[in-house]
Amino acid sequence: MAAAKPFRMGVIGTGWIGRRRALTCASHALVSELHLADVRAEVVEEVAAVTGAASWETDYRRLLDRVDAVIVSSAPETTHYPIARDCLAAGKHTLLEKPMALKLSEADDLLARARETGARLAVGYTQRFNPRFAYVKECVAEGRLGRPLTALVSRHLTRMLGEKIAGRGELGPAQMEATHDIDLVLWWMEGARPVRVYAQSVDGVMRARHGLPDCTWIVVTNHDGTAFTVGANWNLPLEAPGFSSTVAEFVGTEGAIFIDDSHRDLLLSTVREGLTRPLSTMPGEQVGHVYRGPMEAETLHFIEAVARDRPVLVTGEQARMVMEVTLAADLSAELGRPVELPLPPD
Ligand SMILES: NC(=O)c1ccc[n+]([C@@H]2O[C@H](COP(=O)([O-])OP(=O)(O)OC[C@H]3O[C@@H](n4cnc5c(N)ncnc54)[C@H](O)[C@@H]3O)[C@@H](O)[C@H]2O)c1
Repeated sequence: MAAAKPFRMGVIGTGWIGRRRALTCASHALVSELHLADVRAEVVEEVAAVTGAASWETDYRRLLDRVDAVIVSSAPETTHYPIARDCLAAGKHTLLEKPMALKLSEADDLLARARETGARLAVGYTQRFNPRFAYVKECVAEGRLGRPLTALVSRHLTRMLGEKIAGRGELGPAQMEATHDIDLVLWWMEGARPVRVYAQSVDGVMRARHGLPDCTWIVVTNHDGTAFTVGANWNLPLEAPGFSSTVAEFVGTEGAIFIDDSHRDLLLSTVREGLTRPLSTMPGEQVGHVYRGPMEAETLHFIEAVARDRPVLVTGEQARMVMEVTLAADLSAELGRPVELPLPPD
């Protein structure tokens, strides 16, 4: 095994997700120094205090010469491409939250810069680190399900999260939510290449508030004739079964697997707040000394990949393919007909 080399990590964007990433980095022995950046000084200063970061900045460009790797957890999503471009051009290994960019030409530019500088580019498809979903991959890899045929993933978010995401931009459920599950299925069906996408969006409460649909249902056909469906909705009431409630099915010629990731296994009832479903967010949450959810494992994986010079699980090339499907889904929903891939870069 290659010897692990401690290195200096930067986290850019220290809101909900970046704070979580920074806390994991701060307690890892292979992260020798932590440096933080956020345009909101009061936010980054607080996270720096909690994590014991060596420095913080409001302009991320000022921390680049102090770090070897970065996690880009900024929002809105328009910030992903320019920040990641600067980090990769400076040769910094980069873990970038999804979606990696808004246009395919931007994604291509990130891939080119990573190739030029030799920096690793990983994209935050956190659900690959959920053991239930990793189990599907393992079953497929071991041949227990035979030849993959089809899959279905249905995900519902509460409107609290829907409001937060829809409120900050133009990206709808396909690019912000279904993107996770399209990544999962393409990972499970590795080798399959999407060639046709048909999607329908449905308007509900979000159209008047944010100009976006409540849900999008997507059918993807692959080059080998396999097909799968992903549904994403973000309008459930707050007492719905979990912040994020998902069911998944994967079918092969020799078997099938059924997953309930609806978080109905833990219920909190208080006089003050009524019924809530703790520990049901997609990235997960800290519970005293342990972490429940996939994001900590994903951050640890990136740290290990950098420190031991190992490949990352979610590559930029895979993330680009997912992005192309989500862009095609939005286009299909708008046109009301199937869209063939590949799409032009813009
Ligand atoms: N993998 C997952 O499960 C998961 C879950 C939620 C969100 N996300 C992704 O993580 C990203 C962050 O989401 P969030 O919920 O933490 O958002 P957030 O709004 O809580 O935090 C984003 C932070 O980025 C900062 N920021 C904006 N522009 C910046 C810039 N130029 N430089 C530095 N900082 C800047 C903001 O000030 C804010 O503090 C989003 O892109 C989202 O898609 C991933």
